[in-house]
Amino acid sequence: MGIRLQDPAPVAMNNNNDNNDMNNEMNSDKTPDASAERPQLNEIHTPVLLERSIELLGPVLAAPGAILVDATLGMGGHAEAMLTRFPGLTLVGLDRDLDALAIAEERLKPFRDRIHLVHTVYDGILDALAGLGISEVQGILFDLGVSSMQLDQVERGFSYSKDAPLDMRMDSTSPLTAERILADYSEGDLRRIFQEYGEEKLAGRYAKAIVEARATTPFVRSAQLVEVITKVTPVAVQRMGHPAKRVFQALRIEVNQELAVLERAIPAAMEAVAVGGRIVSMAYQSLEDRIVKRMFAAASQSSAPAGLPVELPEHKPLFTLLIRGAELASEEEKAINPRATSVRLRAAERLRRAE
Ligand SMILES: C[S@@+](CC[C@H](N)C(=O)[O-])C[C@H]1O[C@@H](n2cnc3c(N)ncnc32)[C@H](O)[C@@H]1O
Repeated sequence: MGIRLQDPAPVAMNNNNDNNDMNNEMNSDKTPDASAERPQLNEIHTPVLLERSIELLGPVLAAPGAILVDATLGMGGHAEAMLTRFPGLTLVGLDRDLDALAIAEERLKPFRDRIHLVHTVYDGILDALAGLGISEVQGILFDLGVSSMQLDQVERGFSYSKDAPLDMRMDSTSPLTAERILADYSEGDLRRIFQEYGEEKLAGRYAKAIVEARATTPFVRSAQLVEVITKVTPVAVQRMGHPAKRVFQALRIEVNQELAVLERAIPAAMEAVAVGGRIVSMAYQSLEDRIVKRMFAAASQSSAPAGLPVELPEHKPLFTLLIRGAELASEEEKAINPRATSVRLRAAERLRRAE
């Protein structure tokens, strides 16, 4: 075992940002030493919708030689459960966060002969599989977003409620940070990302305030940003929730190019699924869920032109939805696991390959 490094697909970034450049090969003796703040394994939170994801993927993972890609390995909670339940299963775990991979590597040691861990952005799924000599897989799991470990590591700057450097990178080897965005982006670009990625009604007001404030003092800490945003937010709006919440979400999405990457990753993942194989996605915010919903829906529709009396085989859908709409966590699960509150689960099964 060991963690493979893969050149991530170049990330399309705004303005003058560099592309990601990462070393190509990494031996297990150079496995990253996750930070001193790495949580103990017994502090690791319960994976969301674990039993339901096992139920959905189980029928295809029980077969001998089955392969599951956990595209968002995180701390390996889902992965550990799947490897335990399915003794013949091989797991390919992807994550863009080296700390997460190091934790998962340790946690999954008992399964070391059945796992491959790859440091990559998940839109690199096909390259990761090709690098392992795998052409198709039986299951794929996406448990999207940041992990509780990433949120708990204050210095990574994901939280508006704790003062920290304005970082927000899931992959600390990538060049774009929230600090750079706040320093370099034009007022128009800031407004656009707050609108598009934060769905923030006061996007223009916040972008203007940031550009004015940075003319005297550059933004380096999250508390500075929270202060500037709070100052220009009407008190009535402040009563409706933390005024910086949507701006922080927007910055995180921009830093990690989350939506653009997901737009590429879902079709790539669907391509990797064998006939009869299944893909399960859990999204925690509506922008990501909409992408998954649209792509699953498109693949599960007939491509027959309207009015054709008989559907030809080449027009038949490539996938079928295993769940109509999105499934939510039960009230019991939400009570035990607050992270499950906003989850939207979707699942699809491949029916055939395009001819
Ligand atoms: C919600 S956590 C997954 C938790 C995991 N299922 C578990 O049980 O421990 C999401 C993980 O996906 C990773 N991630 C998010 N976006 C990614 C991307 N575009 N490419 C690769 N990994 C990504 C994050 O770094 C994080 O570790």
